[in-house]
Amino acid sequence: MTTRTPASPATDASPATEQHPGRPAGPRHVKERALAALEAARRRTLALTDCLDEDELTAQHSPLMSPLVWDLAHIANQEDIWLLREAGGRPGLRPELDHLYDAFRHPRADRPQLPLLSPEAARRYAAAVREQALDVLAAAPVDGSPLFDGGFVFGMSVQHEQQHDETMLATHQLRKGPAVLHAPAPGPAPDTTTLPREVLVTEGPFTMGTDTDPWALDNERPARTVHLPAFWLDTTPVTNAAYQEFIDDGGYTDPRWWTPAGREHVERTGISAPLFWRREGGTWLRRRFGRTEAVPPDEPVMHVCWYEADAYARWAGRRLPTEAEWEKAARHDPATGRSRPYPWGTDGPTPAHANLGQRHLQPSPAGSHPAGAAPCGARQLLGDVWEWTSSDFTGYPGFAAFPYREYSEVFFGPDHKVLRGGSFGTGPAACRSTFRNWDYPIRRQIFAGFRTARDAGPSETRTTA
Ligand SMILES: [Fe+2]
Repeated sequence: MTTRTPASPATDASPATEQHPGRPAGPRHVKERALAALEAARRRTLALTDCLDEDELTAQHSPLMSPLVWDLAHIANQEDIWLLREAGGRPGLRPELDHLYDAFRHPRADRPQLPLLSPEAARRYAAAVREQALDVLAAAPVDGSPLFDGGFVFGMSVQHEQQHDETMLATHQLRKGPAVLHAPAPGPAPDTTTLPREVLVTEGPFTMGTDTDPWALDNERPARTVHLPAFWLDTTPVTNAAYQEFIDDGGYTDPRWWTPAGREHVERTGISAPLFWRREGGTWLRRRFGRTEAVPPDEPVMHVCWYEADAYARWAGRRLPTEAEWEKAARHDPATGRSRPYPWGTDGPTPAHANLGQRHLQPSPAGSHPAGAAPCGARQLLGDVWEWTSSDFTGYPGFAAFPYREYSEVFFGPDHKVLRGGSFGTGPAACRSTFRNWDYPIRRQIFAGFRTARDAGPSETRTTA
């Protein structure tokens, strides 16, 4: 079972064709959107921290993660820097705290030893910054400079907070002890018996990246035309049941499926199943936010690292999709030749489209959310689980760091793999067809799964998707 990785996509600078996000762009609407998104992020931040006592907030639940109280004050400090000082031209509330909450200065493992604000002081700081930030929003322009166009700086702050909320959710998953988070289970999957196992994405150009989404971050820009050969993509993410077949077939111990680095990683760590799984008798169990339950067979697999996803794909006679393939599947509309902000069109996500925003504490069963299907027919490209791609994280041609190099540029290179699509724990404001996430190929605590792809044969390249 060999796989073939396509050559790097050809690109050119021909004019990009994108559909704008389906929102009116007037100043009042921009500010209403920013206000609603800031408030939603803060509700979530407080819900993730108010449910734990002081000891739990200051404890380090895993060396991979910060104490939750660090995230809380870091969110406030970034808002202090970006909304009060940079956007508002104000002196800021606590500039003396910048060094404590600088993620580059202090690795996560060292943060418990820092003289951090207490939970109560962190809450007060966050509330005081927010009060001033809303005054800044009320008075701010929404155009005239890249920082303000379309409310960018407010959108950046919202996305930063939502990203930390997802990180805090991962800390909750790593935390020992009884459950403190509660949410309803996602609905059952619709009848998927007629759903094809894979969908064809036809050859040809598409617009990758964006010039039009006002809240897109620097690494999503600029838009350009990318030509791809035809390929087949799994209709849904790989399920727990399918992944168990890989385990049962001895996938973890068969060197044929692993890259040398992946093999070395498996041997060194002894991993033999997704993180949080254990076998009891003949049954696979998993721990999920303080509860232990049988692994649901029809749910997308998650808590697997890139090496595991890559090995599974090779075992299945397939490969991981490239980042460009994933994005084409998620947004290219062959009927118009244009790229969509979301797989289903131009309107923002609703619960019918995608499982986002921690409404549930697990992915929806594979095949869910038919309303969120892409033009190619693939489902659940947004929400449920982040999806590993085969691509390294790099800047697009013409990339320009904005508003600071440390947002993404310092992570470019072969050390990080790109993930796409967001998970059940991703805020809707931080999720779209162009959004790029990245992480080390060994990471398993993130809510990541994958789907697989294969090259299409020559006779398949003209089939209409
Ligand atoms: Fe941060």
